[in-house]
Amino acid sequence: MKILITRKIPENAIRILKESGFEIDYRQGEPLSKKELISSVKDVDAIIAVIPDLIDKEIIDAGNNLKIISCYSVGYDNIDYKYAESKGIITTNTPGHLTESVAEHSAGLMLAVARNIVMADYYVRQGKYKYWDPMIFLGPSLKGKTIGIIGMGRIGQHLAKIANKGFGMKILYSDPIKCSIEKEFDGEFCNLEYVLNNSDFVSINCLLTESTRHLISENEFKMMKASAFLINTSRGAVVNEIALINALKNKIIAGAGLDVFEDEETVNPEFYKLKNVVLTPHIASATNEARIEMAKIAAENIVDLLIKKIEPKFKVK
Ligand code: DGY
Repeated sequence: MKILITRKIPENAIRILKESGFEIDYRQGEPLSKKELISSVKDVDAIIAVIPDLIDKEIIDAGNNLKIISCYSVGYDNIDYKYAESKGIITTNTPGHLTESVAEHSAGLMLAVARNIVMADYYVRQGKYKYWDPMIFLGPSLKGKTIGIIGMGRIGQHLAKIANKGFGMKILYSDPIKCSIEKEFDGEFCNLEYVLNNSDFVSINCLLTESTRHLISENEFKMMKASAFLINTSRGAVVNEIALINALKNKIIAGAGLDVFEDEETVNPEFYKLKNVVLTPHIASATNEARIEMAKIAAENIVDLLIKKIEPKFKVK
């Protein structure tokens, strides 16, 4: 049986798949174009797909032997998984082991933007730091502030613990369901409007779905405090970027820390002009530990289905 792996990923995945006897078409360069994906998927039983791969109907139809799309990510908004399912093709993902890494990065972005860490670094590198100045790069402390977490899944819960236990923050959250462990971080289950009205930091930690696309748009920015910061390590399209840029430019909110963008191939250059935003290239899960575990899970999902003939542990439903 043959597997297409569309980008370079940690070697443990390759080892697991080779040991299980798979032939591997291992691409390690730039993301594959749609044309390349269509021709490469023709004779494979499985794909390990990464975030830039848009696995749509055409690509799924081209996969004559395709049985499983194993996402090397938690998010699977790049896969038409419902269409795949209608053709008997399973989609899987890699939840669990990147929880801490993504939550830590969200916390890092809060500090980076609130405490001007990137701008201050640039100031030092430019040789501008000559003497200690009591009045430069002032920003709010996290202690005693409120973080509103939108999406209280594994990552949201871990961020809530870091924020509450580590920084002494109050936790508000909105989610379709009340979190069963909210007492562990003193969380208050609220509606979105209440979260936006009352938070000093708003962190997006939900999946991108049709109901969360542009969940945060012009009206929602108006509901936020002018002193509030938006943090997004989920998917860019949960936030309407044009509305965000307008909110940042016109000081409707104080700033943003963004790891994800609506169009990740062409980040909106308006962001580069803004000093009140910290930008990272979708690296929230980029710890050695998380990426190795993700590779293991992505490979094991395939082994479960195709070799052990059992339902993979992380099937997307
Ligand atoms: C995911 O897993 O969905 C992250 O965005 C990348 O690791």
